[in-house]
Amino acid sequence: VIKMQDLDLAGKRVLIREDLNVPISEGKVSSDARLRAALPTLKLALDAGAKVIVMSHLGRPTEGEFDAQYSLKPVADYLSEALGTPVALLDDWQNGVSLESGQLALLENVRFNVGEKKDADDLSKAYAALCDVFVMDAFGTAHRAQASTHGVAKYAPIACAGPLLASELENLERALANPARPFVAIVGGSKVSTKLEVLETLSDKVDQLVVGGGIANTFLAAAGYNVGKSLYEEDLIPKAKALMEKCHIPIPTDVITGKKFDPKEPATLRPVENVGDDDMIFDIGPVSSACLAEILKQAGTIIWNGPVGVFEFDQFADGTEDIARAIAESSAFSIAGGGDTLAAVDKFGIADQVSYISTGGGAFLEYVEGKVLPAVAILEERAKG
Ligand code: 3PG
Repeated sequence: VIKMQDLDLAGKRVLIREDLNVPISEGKVSSDARLRAALPTLKLALDAGAKVIVMSHLGRPTEGEFDAQYSLKPVADYLSEALGTPVALLDDWQNGVSLESGQLALLENVRFNVGEKKDADDLSKAYAALCDVFVMDAFGTAHRAQASTHGVAKYAPIACAGPLLASELENLERALANPARPFVAIVGGSKVSTKLEVLETLSDKVDQLVVGGGIANTFLAAAGYNVGKSLYEEDLIPKAKALMEKCHIPIPTDVITGKKFDPKEPATLRPVENVGDDDMIFDIGPVSSACLAEILKQAGTIIWNGPVGVFEFDQFADGTEDIARAIAESSAFSIAGGGDTLAAVDKFGIADQVSYISTGGGAFLEYVEGKVLPAVAILEERAKG
């Protein structure tokens, strides 16, 4: 692929797709790991004298509607401060964006735009019309074939890989070419449906799969336990069952429950067979996390994506903290990736003890699975001419 660093950007209109999908709390960025990772690319383009337009999604809003809770305003404020220059947030960019060399603007959440998720041609062309050079730097969203990650790369005059994307691909390739065994993957988080598929492929690549969070609830339900009102996916129970028959997947034996998703909700520790119909599982219990910590201790390579509980609320954070500490203390080569995972790594202060930190969550897992990332594939196609 063509690399951004190999191009002369002076005076050029440069459109950079970043993954600025970060947790926001009370109108402020609550974990800036992904933003810190994107900053060097933005600075490089600004220093090269480019007119820089940045775009990203935030969360999963309803298409075609502005929704303040998904606005990139907190990110624009963060970037203004970090770059020491005002960063305008543009929602009305269709008729062009006028910038001077060395100036930067941010487009409002691309997922407000009709056609973004469907990779629509008209939207892709509208993005492409904003630039002389399109830079794909959003490794975290490279597994999505959407208008701002894939379609735009078809129509931009030049489409290239940004430094963050390139470095993620190089580092992961090096780390995973010949992983030390046992190779353990720990997959948690709340995006259950997409990740169960990932687990199926991963089960052939790794020696031990460990599940947590919403995914573990689906496995608990598949094993016949009552999960009450917990986040899980009923439709996926047959798949979870099939996977449990194929390989051994440890499921929690004790869990921490609450009645509602609320920062002040009291936490109750229960054996997994005592979850009531109105309970929600928000974390794994200490016996379960000790058992997982033991598995992690013996690993040669660990990949970690997704917290095992609602770690944003302190009373449901212990399971994820135990896992984070076990990874930090293990002598394995460890890779952690994903928006929430990075927030957990930050919260528990283990960033220096993880061997490699990736900005990608789903993208990182798909890369490990050996899947083609569509936003990278299109850059390869464009480079062939
Ligand atoms: C992520 O957080 O994994 C990426 O930003 C992609 O988000 P998505 O799963 O909503 O496409």
